[in-house]
Amino acid sequence: MSERKILVTSALPYANGPIHIGHLVEYIQTDIWVRFQKQRGNQCYYVCADDTHGTPIMLRADKEGISPEQLIAQTEQEHRADFAEFGVAFDHYHSTHSAENKDLSEFIYRQLKAGGHISQRTITQAFDPLKQMFLPDRFIKGECPKCGAKDQYGDNCEACGATYSPTELINAVSAVSGEKPIEKDSEHYFFNLNDFETMLTEWTTEEGHLQPEVRNKMAEWLENGLQQWDISRDAPYFGFEIPDAPGKYFYVWLDAPIGYMASFKNFCELQNIDFDAFWGANSETELYHFIGKDIIYFHALFWPAMLHGAGFRTPSAVFAHGFLTVNGEKMSKSRGTFIKARTYLDHLNPEYLRYYFAAKLAAGVDDLDLNFDDFSQRVNSDLVGKVVNIASRCSGFIHKRFDGKLSAACSEPELFNQFIAAAPRIAELYETREFGKAMREIMALADLANQYIDEKKPWVIAKEEGKDTELHDACSMGINLFSLLIAYLKPVVPSLVENAEQFLNIDAQAWPSERQPLLDHAINKFKPLMTRVENDKIEAIVSASKENLEPEKTIQKQWDPIADTIEFDDFAKLDLRIAKIVKAQTVDGADKLLQLTVDIGDETRNIFAGIKSAYSPEDLEGQLTLVIANLKPRKMRFGVSEGMVLAAGPGGKDIWVLKPDQGAQAGMRVK
Ligand code: MSP
Ligand code: ZN
Repeated sequence: MSERKILVTSALPYANGPIHIGHLVEYIQTDIWVRFQKQRGNQCYYVCADDTHGTPIMLRADKEGISPEQLIAQTEQEHRADFAEFGVAFDHYHSTHSAENKDLSEFIYRQLKAGGHISQRTITQAFDPLKQMFLPDRFIKGECPKCGAKDQYGDNCEACGATYSPTELINAVSAVSGEKPIEKDSEHYFFNLNDFETMLTEWTTEEGHLQPEVRNKMAEWLENGLQQWDISRDAPYFGFEIPDAPGKYFYVWLDAPIGYMASFKNFCELQNIDFDAFWGANSETELYHFIGKDIIYFHALFWPAMLHGAGFRTPSAVFAHGFLTVNGEKMSKSRGTFIKARTYLDHLNPEYLRYYFAAKLAAGVDDLDLNFDDFSQRVNSDLVGKVVNIASRCSGFIHKRFDGKLSAACSEPELFNQFIAAAPRIAELYETREFGKAMREIMALADLANQYIDEKKPWVIAKEEGKDTELHDACSMGINLFSLLIAYLKPVVPSLVENAEQFLNIDAQAWPSERQPLLDHAINKFKPLMTRVENDKIEAIVSASKENLEPEKTIQKQWDPIADTIEFDDFAKLDLRIAKIVKAQTVDGADKLLQLTVDIGDETRNIFAGIKSAYSPEDLEGQLTLVIANLKPRKMRFGVSEGMVLAAGPGGKDIWVLKPDQGAQAGMRVK
């Protein structure tokens, strides 16, 4: 069998939030599959990236007072650390905010445009007049038009389940500013998905591309007719500007899947791999996307059409999985079941969760439940009780009585061969993503091994005369069976297996199709490979997840927060005076400053003010204004400034110097 060449992706996590255990279903599922392929000797690459563009990320950065670039850099570090500690071993992790992604997105767009698959038209959308931005549905909130529930977002009501258009919301406001949205026109760019109807009908129905239940869903969508897909967004937007369309940006979902290619492209450059061999229209390699069921539409319709339209290969398959529930319910912040990867890592061994998810995963799109009792019971009874226990039961005698060496002959070749014979069956289950069934096969073998040891009773024969060979053989057999079990479990619990390989004093194990037993082989001292799940740790995770709960702050304040309260005496310290600007002039070498001579009644002052971007000297001469008269004089490059003129506004052209009402005279104190 010749080695397969496979490229695998998981969906790119959004860069505006932490990885949580729901996400981990996907990354662990994919990682297990990739590790399995590698263990089989296939050439398999696993790439991913942060999905960095879009309105939520832009607004989140805004709220935190940092740039989107800073936000995504920070999040990427956190995501990478979380994945690494969960053993999710990407060959490459990149960002959609990268040069490769910009180039590829522009290239694909131009190809689609050249093919006549892009059109333009004007649409009307909700617009926030204060924030000066178009509002995605989820940033509009109001009362449900059906049941009147307050604070409903976008186009569906969480209270009664009604769906509607966001314009039907009663008393709708922008969730960004609290302002009432207005309607505004804008020209948008569309991808003509309907041009690909025939191609998509073929692609989606061809065996192997989609799971049967997904294929049926696609058939429904195709029957209902394909709509044009709006691929542009107006500034302000964090993303890539569309070529030859100033102020228009690619919608995040256009460049996100291209991020798969971009990540791989960057990897190819670093590793000298032939990118075109994987993505070219005639590629003979395999390409698989693991995704959640919520994003099937993007991956099973838009993405193959975009690839095809731009002259690239289409995916070999898209594998969708279901959603994680915890204790039978949707993850919930108030119940403490919205568990971040980091919170879990603070308390429990990540391989418990890898094993548990493996035990629950199947090839379909059914949701899967993390039940805490079931979780600890499964891990304790399977991994600790059945697998690790074999090694601990047998290794003691090998060390105490036989110098740490296994027997020179295999006493039960049939049993050993039975374990080897399971290899193709287990491989098939891994290959088809029936991980739960694979775990059951492996645990059935573990049961056989334990049964064997129970029958041999090493702890009894160890005390009997003349039973040395029997004891040695039984324990050696146990260790050999253990070595096969961990070979089968390697994709799921890689670090447990690595420690076990070290204990067994063997190299990293390939898939055990033709393995011989370890004979006359020295093993290392046994160290506990995995301890039992402690239930108080689970409680600690739940309570930490509750503590993490931040009150939902939806209405963003438009202005700086009001400063701390001060005493009247603090205010009285400010000597504010009405001042008359008698002279205003520009300053050589200073682009922002105007030099003002102001009359404050009994004296004149020289003041430098940073208002040149908003005022010309002649606007100001003769005007009254307010100055702080007792501010300590400040030496500047151009002279000494003896006070400060009061003004408001963000800067640039938007600066407004304060003016007193008519009648006020230079020299009067402001109180
Ligand atoms: N950024 C998009 C994907 C772009 S791919 C070109 C996205 N990001 S996400 O962070 O919301 O989700 C990443 C993946 O995690 C998705 O496949 C999603 O389905 C999956 N999951 C998110 N929450 C999940 C659960 N609660 N359960 C299982 N999978 C979940 O979508
Ligand atoms: Zn409602």
